[in-house]
Amino acid sequence: MPTFKKPIVIVTRKLPEAVETRMRELFDARLNVADNPMSHAELAEAVKAAHVLVPTVTDRIDRSLLSQAGPQLKLIANFGNGVDNIDLDTARVRGIIVTNTPGVLTEDTADMTMALILAVPRRLAEGAALLKDAKQHWPGWSPTWMLGHRIWGKRLGIIGMGRIGQAVARRARAFGLQIHYYNRRRVSEEVEQELEATYWESLDQMLARMDIVSVNCPHTPATYHLLSARRLKLLKPTAYIVNTARGEVIDENELARMVEAGQIAGAGLDVFENEPAINPKLLSSDRVVALPHMGSATIEGRIDMGEKVIINVKTFLDGHNPPDRVHAAMF
Ligand code: 8YV
Repeated sequence: MPTFKKPIVIVTRKLPEAVETRMRELFDARLNVADNPMSHAELAEAVKAAHVLVPTVTDRIDRSLLSQAGPQLKLIANFGNGVDNIDLDTARVRGIIVTNTPGVLTEDTADMTMALILAVPRRLAEGAALLKDAKQHWPGWSPTWMLGHRIWGKRLGIIGMGRIGQAVARRARAFGLQIHYYNRRRVSEEVEQELEATYWESLDQMLARMDIVSVNCPHTPATYHLLSARRLKLLKPTAYIVNTARGEVIDENELARMVEAGQIAGAGLDVFENEPAINPKLLSSDRVVALPHMGSATIEGRIDMGEKVIINVKTFLDGHNPPDRVHAAMF
């Protein structure tokens, strides 16, 4: 009986057990069980050997790396929704298909966004840290202690009304927030009506009127520093920003400066411009709730993401168009 060699699928980070088990069954899966982020040199070795590469947000798949890819590399199946870690134009020129994992992390990321929308004005991080700090003594309840701000009735401006932006709007309405949004394209009338959402053609005008701003757009060349120093200054000093999308959308240094100077009320940040580095001013501020990129970090979400990766790889290797193919023009 002839033996067929399975295609080599190199996965750059450790994935949930169930996903790795299935990958081992289907492919010649080279897994990163130690979960050490791969260096540029290690990634270069990987693209020389792999038929399929499965990277994550922590891997820079740039032009110099892709120029070292062997001719057998035909698919990059990203474990993640955002593909700003991959040079899509170079991949296209080299005939490499790129896929992502849309849809399955929408609800989890929207939940985390909502958690940050609540955590900043209600001082949740401060309150929780205080009780855990053995040096602090909680004297008991007082009418004027740990006062924050109400979110009910406030204006929420969502930047990026895609899947995640809409899921945030749905939740936020239930919390009594008024929904406003800025998006490249206006969403359908049905969606606007369902969410009772007000569309702003001008981001500048929306920013100046919001109490809370939530960043839910992808990072692309067009959205890099969309919240620039100039735009951040348009915000009311009582407004705060939540970002569960990508750090690069905000000028992080300017945001940190404004928080420190009290020119903005605070920020809830799950993502940062130069991860894992974070501007220290953000970490030392009581008015910032910072999380280590946890938006989609549920076991269910990560298994679903792995399942999507497997479907994309398997479909492609079976000679069909993978369902979650991305093109630069989509972003
Ligand atoms: C993922 C994300 O954890 O999917 C995305 O775009 O930002 C995250 O929630 C990460 O990207 C995995 O690669």
